[in-house]
Amino acid sequence: MNAELRQHAARYVELLRRHGKKEAWLPTGLARRLPSASTSATPAPLSSPTTRTTKSEPPSALRSAPPIPSPKPKNDFDLNSILKDVSGSKADKLAALRKKTDVCKICAHLAKSRTQVVFGVGDPEAKLMFVGEAPGAEEDKQGEPFVGLAGKLLTKMITAMELTREQVYIANVLKCRPDMPANTSGNRKPTRTEMDTCLPYLRAQVAIIAPTVIVALGSTAVEGLFGPQKTTISRLRGTWMELDGVPVRPTFHPSYLLHNQDLALKRLVWTDLMAAMEKLSLPISEKQRGYFLKPTA
Ligand code: URA
Repeated sequence: MNAELRQHAARYVELLRRHGKKEAWLPTGLARRLPSASTSATPAPLSSPTTRTTKSEPPSALRSAPPIPSPKPKNDFDLNSILKDVSGSKADKLAALRKKTDVCKICAHLAKSRTQVVFGVGDPEAKLMFVGEAPGAEEDKQGEPFVGLAGKLLTKMITAMELTREQVYIANVLKCRPDMPANTSGNRKPTRTEMDTCLPYLRAQVAIIAPTVIVALGSTAVEGLFGPQKTTISRLRGTWMELDGVPVRPTFHPSYLLHNQDLALKRLVWTDLMAAMEKLSLPISEKQRGYFLKPTA
């Protein structure tokens, strides 16, 4: 088997891994001959002509394939130069930052697959900022975060706070839609590398806007902001974290709420939003305090 074919196979396996796949179909001989097979644990027996491994254990091909040495993406953009060189309002600074992100090609695969960069939307002077994980298909199309189904729910949540989308700022950890294999629908979780690469842009947005509170939507957003966590979003919500001196309230992602129409879950998210409102010294009416409580008999 020639080296080029082995390289292609290894790249294919790496792509699957990046897309969160734990299973692979590979011709037996090929799986055994991926470059690092000899360095890993004993490959699981593979049957011809193709082999599917079980869900509980990573397939030998996935275990044995080496990570493809991709150049470590480097976001060497200098926040200070943006803040220093651009005089004027927060809006001017955000516009200057946006110019940079619009042409960003550090993640070459995302630059190739995206329709456009989804920078963020809202009031540059906002006191409240929402941070999600990454644009989905609709956001990629429209160039605005949270405009799909989850976005509509987020808008309702903002309305329940008696605010509008125009009064807050909404952004994602990742500014490009995570690419998907051809002819597949749905979304994939951004990789650690993608989030690390893009995070400086979000931190620059935070530095410019200087919100009083950030609400982090979902475990991936939390992971993007703070790195892998030892605990779950269920345990993190209800607490305060901190990013560059700004209090961050983790809560469940709106799409999780869409899939779990549970009153108690809605109440937990609402409790987090009320905590954010309290930090912002926003008035909370009695009616608002009672949202999503079980009706008393
Ligand atoms: N989910 C996110 O995390 N961000 C979006 O912009 C849309 C859906």
